[in-house]
Amino acid sequence: MFRTLAPRPALPKRRAKSQSKGGKPAQKRKPAPIYGPAEHEALTRAGRFNAELMDMLRPHVQPGVTTAKLDELAYEYTREHGHRPATLGYENAHGGRDYPASICTSVNEVVCHGIPSDYVLKEGDIVNVDLTSIVDGWYGDSSETFLVGEVDPRTVDLVQATFDSLWAGIHAAKPWGTVFDIGRAIFSLARDRGYGVVRNFQGHGLGEEFHQEPGIPHYPEEHAKNVVLKPGMCFTIEPMLNAGTHDTGKPDRRDGWSVRTKDRKPSAQFEHTLFMTDHGPDVLTLTQNGPAEGHQFGS
Ligand code: MF3
Ligand code: CO
Ligand code: CO
Repeated sequence: MFRTLAPRPALPKRRAKSQSKGGKPAQKRKPAPIYGPAEHEALTRAGRFNAELMDMLRPHVQPGVTTAKLDELAYEYTREHGHRPATLGYENAHGGRDYPASICTSVNEVVCHGIPSDYVLKEGDIVNVDLTSIVDGWYGDSSETFLVGEVDPRTVDLVQATFDSLWAGIHAAKPWGTVFDIGRAIFSLARDRGYGVVRNFQGHGLGEEFHQEPGIPHYPEEHAKNVVLKPGMCFTIEPMLNAGTHDTGKPDRRDGWSVRTKDRKPSAQFEHTLFMTDHGPDVLTLTQNGPAEGHQFGS
């Protein structure tokens, strides 16, 4: 059923830099880079391309399409524009095989890192499409959860809460505030709406690397109180909310990547890349046609 796609032509390999786990004291980590105006500009271009890619894919996310087709469209569009899909050939931190596709497509109970396959999207599914592009050496990273046709109202509510929690996190990100503020805002919104927040995957710094400091936990994690959000930092916020327990299983034994909820209830995620300025975060991955802040799903 979940036969995975044929490998794409090899692009030079990307190494997975270990994404910091929340539990590690901040002072033991390599500090987050602080970028200047030229780097802000380069990251802006990468974020903008990533958003364009999402807008290109959006009309294709429909009942009847395979997730492999979405992957193919993303690969072609990215290469035609002279850029690179960051996930293709990305090294497996758990020792399994390298990531074989250009995007992640996480359907229903898949929390993240779902591998595109011959799975046909059907009415009532939700699918997170997570895109990461490398543009002139700089990364852009964003994801959206799509409703496939008509979706059960309870699942629409999960998607809505997840989207709203991303924006709550964005608004909590203040120059000279802390990473803790972001997780607290996301977690409190999710808790109020009755959802679990995934703890073992978090947002991350990015720049000329895919995953770097600062790690951004989406729950109030004590060590995050020590991590200041300095102007010039670039990072993602990418909360995953679960309809049931926040617990996830280990990556799928067969494909080495797909992470599912422990109770197999649905999970949703949204992600943006942010650049912190003196005045607040600049959201680099805003789309033209996608859901903007305040969007109401399913109406
Ligand atoms: N784009 C994902 C993130 O937001 C990472 C995907 S890594 C992969 O960090 F190898 F699974 F693709
Ligand atoms: Co990310
Ligand atoms: Co991503």
